[in-house]
Amino acid sequence: TQALRLGIAGLGTVGVGVVKIIRRHADLLQARTGRPVEIVAVSARDANKDRDVNLSDYVWETDPVALAKRDDIDVFVELIGGENGPAKASVEAALATGKDVVTANKALLAIHGQELAEMAEAAGRVIRFEAAVAGGIPVIKSLTEGLAGNEITRVMGVMNGTCNYILTRMQSQELGYNALFEECAQLGYLEADPNLDVGGIDAAHKLALLSSIAFGTKPNFNGIQIEGIQHISLDDIHQAADMGYRIKLLGVAQRSARGLEQRMQPCLVPSSSPLGQLEGGTNMVVIEGDAVEQVVLRGPGAGEGPTASAVMGDVCDLARGLQIPTFGRPAASLQDAKPAVTGLP
Ligand code: NDP
Ligand code: HSE
Repeated sequence: TQALRLGIAGLGTVGVGVVKIIRRHADLLQARTGRPVEIVAVSARDANKDRDVNLSDYVWETDPVALAKRDDIDVFVELIGGENGPAKASVEAALATGKDVVTANKALLAIHGQELAEMAEAAGRVIRFEAAVAGGIPVIKSLTEGLAGNEITRVMGVMNGTCNYILTRMQSQELGYNALFEECAQLGYLEADPNLDVGGIDAAHKLALLSSIAFGTKPNFNGIQIEGIQHISLDDIHQAADMGYRIKLLGVAQRSARGLEQRMQPCLVPSSSPLGQLEGGTNMVVIEGDAVEQVVLRGPGAGEGPTASAVMGDVCDLARGLQIPTFGRPAASLQDAKPAVTGLP
């Protein structure tokens, strides 16, 4: 059987996690997909960095665009990050030269997802991005496959591990969030620019992707009302606790008479509720559909292993020949809907 040949660009937290899984589970992956999954070439900025994994079997490409264009790879795995720059250039190069793409890059897709999806469709390729939303939780698969028979009415939840970690540690340890950055960095949770995390932008990127899939609209990041957690103080947290509440950075996207509403903001949730009980880097996504009613997915939202797990889910689907398109076809009722914002339900 022919191997599925990968080129992996980006060997940071997630990229190294993916290499480790492929090295550790070669037999398992072959058994599950029916063919070997092999890394051909890898790319990062610094060829001399110790990355805690053996890379000597792979071709080293300093330029991710050159990696993406190689004719000895089938799938380009983009794990560099950033909404433009080498991430975008290399994904475009991969599609233009006939590769499928797997990425964890929510910033890229929330902003350029539509044009990249159209590019992929024209090339007869797909872009898969399970890892881009809620880390290790297979939420995109749930929406596109398991819940495909539903009209989705609402998606909501906690979608940023860093913010949840900071908020829960502030609660339990009486620490200000600046002191918690280093812990999040050690855990591999932070974006290259952590302002994206605490500013709610990263979670909003994820919400834009989720609601696009759920409601069949173009990703509309600019239509999201965003408020981060930078201004949440220990006092706020303790006052909320006194009243029986926790503060969570909560994203909501739902259908309404006015169109699609999307917002990402700190909210009070009852301390004893499943959302209130969510600790550390854990994420929770709630999906409501007309037939299923409500499904709750919970799991690690960031970090090496969980995110690499989601990347590998996509890689395995491609190895099996499953080429489900990225974004759904727009539902007529919401295609041109103006995003609107109202209070929490
Ligand atoms: P890191 O910062 O740990 O790794 C980024 C990698 O990209 C590094 O290996 C870096 O090289 C490489 N890189 C950066 N710029 C270039 C360039 N110009 N050319 C070639 N390589 C480059 O990021 P993460 O692994 O944490 O994140 C990767 C992606 O996954 C991002 O899109 C992020 O949003 C997403 N993601 C991350 C999660 C997490 O928990 N960390 C969870 C879900 C998604 P070098 O090592 O040499 O500096
Ligand atoms: N910085 C992100 C987070 C990584 O903390 O959730 C996972 O997408």
